[in-house]
Amino acid sequence: MLELGDSGRGMRRVERYAITALPRDAMQDGAIAKPEVVEAAMRQALSELKSRTREIAMALPASSVITKKILLPKDASDNEIDTQVTAEANQLASFPVGDVSLDYQILGPNPKNPGENDALLVLARRERVEERVALAEAVGLKAMYMDVDAFATLTAYEQMAFQLPDDGKGQTVAIVDIGASTMHVNVLHDNVPVYQREHVMGGQTLTNEISRRFDMPLEDAEEAKRKGLLPDSYESEVLQPFLDAVAQEVARAIQLFFSATSFQGVDHILLAGGCAALPGLDDVVYSRTQTSTMIANPFAKMAVSGEVKARQLASDAPQLFVACGLALRRFDPT
Ligand SMILES: Nc1ncnc2c1ncn2[C@@H]1O[C@H](COP(=O)(O)OP(=O)(O)OP(=O)(O)O)[C@@H](O)[C@H]1O
Ligand SMILES: [Mg+2]
Repeated sequence: MLELGDSGRGMRRVERYAITALPRDAMQDGAIAKPEVVEAAMRQALSELKSRTREIAMALPASSVITKKILLPKDASDNEIDTQVTAEANQLASFPVGDVSLDYQILGPNPKNPGENDALLVLARRERVEERVALAEAVGLKAMYMDVDAFATLTAYEQMAFQLPDDGKGQTVAIVDIGASTMHVNVLHDNVPVYQREHVMGGQTLTNEISRRFDMPLEDAEEAKRKGLLPDSYESEVLQPFLDAVAQEVARAIQLFFSATSFQGVDHILLAGGCAALPGLDDVVYSRTQTSTMIANPFAKMAVSGEVKARQLASDAPQLFVACGLALRRFDPT
């Protein structure tokens, strides 16, 4: 959980944040498998957060939604748009449209059809949305937005594009978010998303290996990994092979991007997600891909409140990438 505020002069400020680990079986394929476990973790994070804010933005995983670019007539009435959007949704969904939660966003005029707008249609199973809204309510929070993690990633990226040459203009940038079990790849060209894909790869594998190798329960292995409190052999025998495996998967992901699109190069790789905090990952990815690689810090141009430890935030920043994109959705008019 992350709260952003204003520090004046249009500058944002990181007010406070809290991170609570979820047991691995709490979520399954984007569905909340153990609501009571997730609820307890949310309660814990909320009490650590100590915020008075009760209104939140949440996200669905990209794997739980279907998106499609559609054309909508510029002069269509709300009713006509409704009809067309529902018809498109009917074609896309593999389940009854009554079970679907759908939304669309107008992107702008279609370059080839002056009378029409490009719009992005997003469908999700209603159940996936409702289970999240219910969790928020159970801990006393109100979900104001249900976003998609891949979109929130793009919102957070806007905050750090200034760190790239020419603010990312004309560049091809791969945002690689490596979490507990999934590696999400988002590629932008000229700051516009052009490709997205998920790979099975994440920090859980490393935790498992630590647990096996040093004979400790998974929870202890997880903590030892984060704090770097492990025997000397850890670095060369466990961490290094894992970093190599991650770098190899990143290289493979980029090759897949090339074969799925007409792009032939990537100018920058931004590493996000909890695994980006692994010491040395950026160097290993750089050596493997020969592409400039940076750890994503979406807070680089934000102020930080006195309650937040700047050093800790710097190390947690990549893990807060999606949360940052969500918090940027702001709801208050001030
Ligand atoms: N300081 C750290 N050092 C090493 N690994 C870390 C650190 N902090 C978090 N991690 C690892 O990052 C992973 C969690 O990252 P993140 O919060 O991005 O995942 P997630 O979004 O919950 O998972 P997924 O995207 O797979 O659904 C865990 O495997 C955790 O062990
Ligand atoms: Mg993630």
